[in-house]
Amino acid sequence: MQSRTIEWRNGTVATIDQSRLPNETVILNMKSCSEVADAINTMKIRGAPLLGAATAFALALTAYNSKAKSKEELISELEKAGEILKGTRPTAVNLFWAMDRILNKARSFVGNVEALCAFVVDEAQKIADEDAMANHLIGKHGAELIEDGDVVLTHCNAGALATVEYGTALGVIRAAFEQGKRISVIATETRPQLQGARLTTYELKRDGIPVTLITDGMVGYVMYKGLVKKVVVGADRIVKDAVINKIGTFTIAVLAKEHGIPFYVAAPKSTFDLTRTSKDVVIEERKPEEVTHIGSERIAPEGVDVLNPAFDITALDYVTAIICESGILYKKDFDKFKANCYK
Ligand code: MRU
Repeated sequence: MQSRTIEWRNGTVATIDQSRLPNETVILNMKSCSEVADAINTMKIRGAPLLGAATAFALALTAYNSKAKSKEELISELEKAGEILKGTRPTAVNLFWAMDRILNKARSFVGNVEALCAFVVDEAQKIADEDAMANHLIGKHGAELIEDGDVVLTHCNAGALATVEYGTALGVIRAAFEQGKRISVIATETRPQLQGARLTTYELKRDGIPVTLITDGMVGYVMYKGLVKKVVVGADRIVKDAVINKIGTFTIAVLAKEHGIPFYVAAPKSTFDLTRTSKDVVIEERKPEEVTHIGSERIAPEGVDVLNPAFDITALDYVTAIICESGILYKKDFDKFKANCYK
């Protein structure tokens, strides 16, 4: 696999098709914003920080291919591309953050249309580079919390595949492992899209980090048996009062609290959305077939009613600490979130 999960290559955006992993390694070479939007919709591209970088590169493709004669015309094309991207996945804030960052800078850009096109491409590249850097810092800070001999439970995939490089929760695990700590991981399969079973175990095995796969329903039992020392997960959005992450995260947080196990969230600041509370966030509902089928095989009777929220909400009370690129944030910092005075 390429060292970065997503790359700009002279007017092409290259990424790995995550819907085919671990069985097939297929590289997607996308040349338009709509191809990127389609890859996001079908979860070939997924994971909050990667959605941010993909959005930035989708706008870069729009600028790169534009025939606009004026800055105003280009900005209007970028805004239209932004509308397509906004209609893909509503919960991960990184998508909206990257789009707003590029559009706001484009609106106040001083220079001609050619210079603005180049600027948009550069800014997208900066967003990708910053994400890679943030993840290495998250790893460095978070590794301090991991001790030799720890067994760390993680949910979904918050690894290199969910980011530009290295990962957030898996970045913490990777950094601790690279420091020589003898750790192992319990990965939940993560129904219904199986990001844990398909992607987290794939990444960790590739790096030689010991990993054991369990189904989501086994978390309580393994905690009860004393098999988990710490939990580290990623986030799709951190608001004033909660962490929003893959469906199943809340259950794990409650079980961790019940068993006195630290529950850590690792995320870059591009995932922070501290002007909102959990009530303001749209939780993505995905199609019933993800639940009624495994792959193409139906496992539930036809016509059964299905709920398929992709994310859940974990109140900050359940979170021991949040690891971001600036360091480790504890309860006193969460109080600043509530007052919206965290910088
Ligand atoms: O639906 P997905 O696979 O995009 O959801 C991904 C997650 O929930 C991750 O935990 C989150 O985006 C953090 S990734 C560093």
